[in-house]
Amino acid sequence: MIRKAFLTFCSAGMLLSAHAQTPKVYAIQADKIKTPIKSTMYGIFFEDINMAADGGVYAELVKNRSFEFNMPLAAWTQQKKDGGDGRIEVINRSVERPENPHFIKAYVSSDAGFFGLANEGFRGMGIKEGEEYSFSVMAKQDGDTNVKLNVELHGDNDAIIGTAELTPTDKEWNRYSVKFKSSATVKKAKLYVWLSGKGTIDMDMISLFPQHTWKDRPAGLRADLVQKLADMKPGFLRFPGGCIVEGRELNNRYQWKKTIGNVDKRTNIINRWNTEFANRSTPDYYQTFGLGFMEYFMTAEDIGASPLPILNCGMACEFNTAELVPMDQLEPYLNDALDLIEFANGDASTKWGKLRTDLGHPAPFNLKMIGVGNEQWGPQYVERWKVFTKAIKSKYPDVKIVSALGPSPDGKEFDMLNKTFRGLGADILDEHYYAPPKWFRDNARRYDNYDRKGPKIFAGEYAAQSVHTVSVDNKNNWECALAEAAFMTGLERNADVVNMASYAPLFAHVDGWQWTPNLIWFDNLKSYATPNYYVQQLFSLNKGTDVVPLTLNNDVVAGQDGCYATASLDKNTNELIIKFVNTGATAQNVSFKLNGGSYQKQANVTTLSSDKGNAENSIENPTAVSPVQSTLAVNGKALNINVEPYAFKVIRLKNK
Ligand code: AHR
Repeated sequence: MIRKAFLTFCSAGMLLSAHAQTPKVYAIQADKIKTPIKSTMYGIFFEDINMAADGGVYAELVKNRSFEFNMPLAAWTQQKKDGGDGRIEVINRSVERPENPHFIKAYVSSDAGFFGLANEGFRGMGIKEGEEYSFSVMAKQDGDTNVKLNVELHGDNDAIIGTAELTPTDKEWNRYSVKFKSSATVKKAKLYVWLSGKGTIDMDMISLFPQHTWKDRPAGLRADLVQKLADMKPGFLRFPGGCIVEGRELNNRYQWKKTIGNVDKRTNIINRWNTEFANRSTPDYYQTFGLGFMEYFMTAEDIGASPLPILNCGMACEFNTAELVPMDQLEPYLNDALDLIEFANGDASTKWGKLRTDLGHPAPFNLKMIGVGNEQWGPQYVERWKVFTKAIKSKYPDVKIVSALGPSPDGKEFDMLNKTFRGLGADILDEHYYAPPKWFRDNARRYDNYDRKGPKIFAGEYAAQSVHTVSVDNKNNWECALAEAAFMTGLERNADVVNMASYAPLFAHVDGWQWTPNLIWFDNLKSYATPNYYVQQLFSLNKGTDVVPLTLNNDVVAGQDGCYATASLDKNTNELIIKFVNTGATAQNVSFKLNGGSYQKQANVTTLSSDKGNAENSIENPTAVSPVQSTLAVNGKALNINVEPYAFKVIRLKNK
């Protein structure tokens, strides 16, 4: 309904915009600082949903590399060629290696030809012409054999686009690797591992990575995806979620200690989004934790974001099993929180600080915040929260605790938690809003009357839903992005209360998603930023350091004629920054009265706009809605600008 109304408006708006209007005068008081804006104001929410980690930012190309899926040979098929033959056994050594029990034993029964395995990758493997790839395997010859490996990458029509050879020599487990180049770019390539020479060989951790990754770290992260995060200059990185923290059941909760160290020792588990939506079932979705807590902390550091880990508080997802740990058995969960703080901040004389040092990072990660629970609600959460808060605060009084206010921004559960946590003196409250675009436009004043002395607000997960939450038809369209921009002017205006905000979820594979909308979409080779991403990016890059008053008729600008606005100073660059959002169908003739500053003659303007509410970006057309730069004359103490319908503008004026 809302979307239809918006679209109908578009054509009318184009007509109306032709009429000249008397300019409305918006007053800016650049010498009256209202509140500083925290460096953490705009950040990133990361969760392994929609193949964000495995199959996404974690650049491993082999799916089920360690044969730990419920069906251990999932993603693998046996192959024969040129008269070769053999068979595969799946061995479970759970007593000796409980964290990585399965490996395969391959019997090559013929001297002639080749027997082997092919891996389908994550909806195929994205391979680029001229790039180098690193194949590796843990292997041991079983007895006096000399089984040789021929590695092949197959592209479209089974064309061979890369080859390598390797012969594991030892009778004990060892890691072998070889590098080779690809001769073609292919979106859905396959990996073949051919075995030749009669005998038996054991194999595990069969892996293929591009050499070029983020910062070219071996077995690292996809560079194009992390670059998009870096380009946002985020203030914080929240990880690892989201509901994935909780697990459908406690057994499958996120346990950070199992995600660090050698990757072959990180226990794989089913991804909770594997089975969440029957209509978006993803039976091949598991967590290898190749992207684990060390990688999260290092990525945060790389992109200049403050790390914000969210930990399980003894509760499984309340939308699913809602399992609870008995209160007298919370200790391992509490230890996970306390040990994590030591892991992040402790020096090498501490147990966990030493582990971080041994893992190659002697410098602390400077952890200042930690989340206790994700979207919990009910008195059972409060009970557990109290135990966590007491334990954390008594050992680490300076670490701020992020407390959940449930999945909705209002209602009985929200009100109860909001009141309770305020009464208990909580540091930061985590509010989530997945709602129609209208909700975002209507709630731009949400924080204007919040208690200034109470807890700080973290808008921890939000996204406008074009249809409804969890609808598979939700789109990352311009109407939603523009509504988010309108709402964000209210966050920024209230930066004394709202200290952090992040859109959610972050990533989605175009062939492997469960949830929509998402900030960044990708396939195996490319990625694109949504209009919503550009809104987030423009706010982040242009947040400034201090909010200053911007008013229309002595009121904040939050919906009059469909317009929303905020202004800030950037003390570092000596600029005034104005953000103006016109969600209406009518062009706005705007005059800013510039009090308290003296500006150079030309302002820089960035415009994000579209006359179509349903406009989207895509792999084929990644910049359909994207920022456009221009300049504007400043007329002494006045700045006049015509803001077209459905537009978000950022105007930067340099002080003389
Ligand atoms: O962002 C997707 C999901 O939405 C998150 O995992 C959860 O916290 C929320 O319900």
